[in-house]
Amino acid sequence: MTTFHRTVSTYRSGARTMPREQYTSPAILAEETERVFARHWNCVGRVNRLAKPGDYIVREIAGESLIVLRDRGGELRALFNVCRHRGTRICRETHGQFSETIQCPYHAWTYATDGHLIGAPHMQDVEGFEKKDHPLHSAAIAEWEGFLFVNIADDPQPFADWFAPMLRRLERYNIAGLSVGHSVAYDVRANWKLVFQNYSECLHCPMIHPELSTVLPYQSGANDLVDGPFLGGYMEITQPNESATLSGKACGRLVSPTLGDDDRRRAFYYTLMPNLMLSIHPDYVNYYLLTPVSVDHTRVESEWMFHPSNEGDPSFNPQDAIAFWDVTNRQDWDICEQSQLGVSSRRYEPGPYSPRESMPAAWDRFYLAMMDGTH
Ligand code: FES
Ligand SMILES: [Fe+2]
Repeated sequence: MTTFHRTVSTYRSGARTMPREQYTSPAILAEETERVFARHWNCVGRVNRLAKPGDYIVREIAGESLIVLRDRGGELRALFNVCRHRGTRICRETHGQFSETIQCPYHAWTYATDGHLIGAPHMQDVEGFEKKDHPLHSAAIAEWEGFLFVNIADDPQPFADWFAPMLRRLERYNIAGLSVGHSVAYDVRANWKLVFQNYSECLHCPMIHPELSTVLPYQSGANDLVDGPFLGGYMEITQPNESATLSGKACGRLVSPTLGDDDRRRAFYYTLMPNLMLSIHPDYVNYYLLTPVSVDHTRVESEWMFHPSNEGDPSFNPQDAIAFWDVTNRQDWDICEQSQLGVSSRRYEPGPYSPRESMPAAWDRFYLAMMDGTH
């Protein structure tokens, strides 16, 4: 049974925002790259991108380039995009399909799609050289609800341990069965943590999102994850609205026909450390992947997903949900950019969080625990 907590009940008095350096220091970003991104499970998008054997996408995690693919045998794999000959980056494209093998463009070392080396010109003349000693380096990969996660650590924590609070939590929503209806990428001129913090509270909603506030009142709802790497809960969709859309009507069929009455009136919002924000509505699910580019620049990739049975239905109106969040997202990015400018001031100092900001405060606590090595 899920327990829900009102936001104000999880407030810890004395909570304050983080110091200026956290948002401006390249040294801190370098530390985050090691402690947060290089050691944890990063979401790399939807498995539907890898439908057929040989399909691949290239993703960046902690400054590393990874080839994420379905090998010829059908297994999902994540391989470092680094040739075992002289280290050259192998793939330049962001996605594609390997016909049979992966070949380095420099001296033609050739790998099977599972990463093992099958061809290395003239290396047979090198004493002691064994192809089996030079496979592409691999990273750990896991799948959850149609999302792919990669962990580049040498000794990664098992996904099922790390992800335990989330594993079965959203099963009823059938997220694995949804199809992507729209994709967009945003460049936000703000630190990646400001984007997470902003997503974690709706205290700003009446000011920043007048359209959204009529559908999702900021004082409604409660949280079911209030501590740790995964945080969030739901907001009530105000009647007679059916969903978070521009018209207030559902844009299509339920994401799962078996959703209960409560879920049909709720929208759930979760932050999943270190790089995923997940928004769940009765009729669609949208998500955001965050990649820090620099201390004041974050790449945000977002997709909207719908039930596949909407295809061909004349009443299906995905644009109603897409436009609703596209407008809202841009309002959020704009205020995050203003935050970045302000927290970069030499006069900025940590300010007090209110009881309605217990979630960004909890997000900061877990982030700081990752940074000081206690998590
Ligand atoms: S660096 Fe890849 S084949 Fe030489
Ligand atoms: Fe917002």
